[in-house]
Amino acid sequence: MEDTLGRNINYLRVSVTDLCNLRCQYCMPEEGIAKKHHGEILSLEEIFQVVKTAADLGIHKVRITGGEPLVRKGILELIENIANLQKIKDLAMTTNGILLRQYASDLKAAGLKRVNISLDTLREERYKNITRGGKFKAVWEGIEAARKAGLCPIKINVVLIGDFNDDEIEDFAKLTLEESMEVRFIELMPIGQAAAWAKNRFISNHTAKERIKGLIPVYDGDRSSPAKYYQLPGGKGKIGFINPISNHFCKHCNRIRLTADGRLKPCLHWDQEMDVKAALRAGVEDLGEIIQKTILAKPLQHTLNRSDHAPVERDMYRIGG
Ligand code: GTP
Ligand code: 5AD
Ligand code: SF4
Repeated sequence: MEDTLGRNINYLRVSVTDLCNLRCQYCMPEEGIAKKHHGEILSLEEIFQVVKTAADLGIHKVRITGGEPLVRKGILELIENIANLQKIKDLAMTTNGILLRQYASDLKAAGLKRVNISLDTLREERYKNITRGGKFKAVWEGIEAARKAGLCPIKINVVLIGDFNDDEIEDFAKLTLEESMEVRFIELMPIGQAAAWAKNRFISNHTAKERIKGLIPVYDGDRSSPAKYYQLPGGKGKIGFINPISNHFCKHCNRIRLTADGRLKPCLHWDQEMDVKAALRAGVEDLGEIIQKTILAKPLQHTLNRSDHAPVERDMYRIGG
């Protein structure tokens, strides 16, 4: 379905839980978050109902996110049900990878096509520090397991953070020489915990691009992908840059979001939300109408670069990226 600006909205990001088995410093509060009561979050059947209705309205790409989606009980069954929808052509997940070693082959069997894995450093101690206790080895083994299971192409999401990982840009880029994975550098967005961070923690992808010598542009055929892709000479993989700040991709936006507590969001950086949980529980017959309303409410673009921008109230872990 098209929005008011003629953008074709065919991508639904579904956050299945706010909970996470890590507490990354730019995402989760140090004390963690309280578990919600059952009734406060959508059941898996309710999530499926929304996805099915969205598919009938032209959504053909679904991404499962969190928090950390693999901590939600019954996740494999939800994936299997979504994968069985004829109209869904691309079914992917964004995960921190900690539980992938355990889940990769079951995810593949359930019908998941591919995974994007958040990994901001290749150094054990740093990983423990930024994630407040996470084990780098577990993620690395998770990546191996995903590759073996064929959850490809594997994309590694690296959020660039000043005074943390800006000296690892070349190391991450070099991973693509031998591996056919995609390494994507993401500009840190001032949302949630990161909204209050000092300016020097935000690194532009221009800096990352300058550090990597010999980049060859490649076009991956998907105009609505937020990443612009390159390759190293002779490299097997790709290097992507996601620039929500320095060169936002709102013009080609193709997505809406469903949160774990049952709100549809027209935009990541917009406070407006549609209460699909209330609609479901009131027995509303035409769920499609609320999805259409969400699509028609999409703003032209975010206002992150404006001096009067106010960060959205919802934290990143409650949206799913
Ligand atoms: P692909 O389908 O593999 O291209 O994945 P994706 O980039 O759509 O999803 P992923 O979860 O890997 O997101 C990568 C980064 O892009 C994260 O930091 C997201 O927060 C950011 N991102 C995704 N969608 C949007 C969006 O609509 N607006 C903005 N500003 N950032 C987004
Ligand atoms: N800015 C940019 N990316 C972020 N992510 C989480 N918080 C931010 C932020 N403030 C990334 C995660 C994950 C993806 C869903 O969003 O690292 O890869
Ligand atoms: Fe789309 Fe909003 Fe993201 Fe821009 S910030 S790409 S309009 S969801």
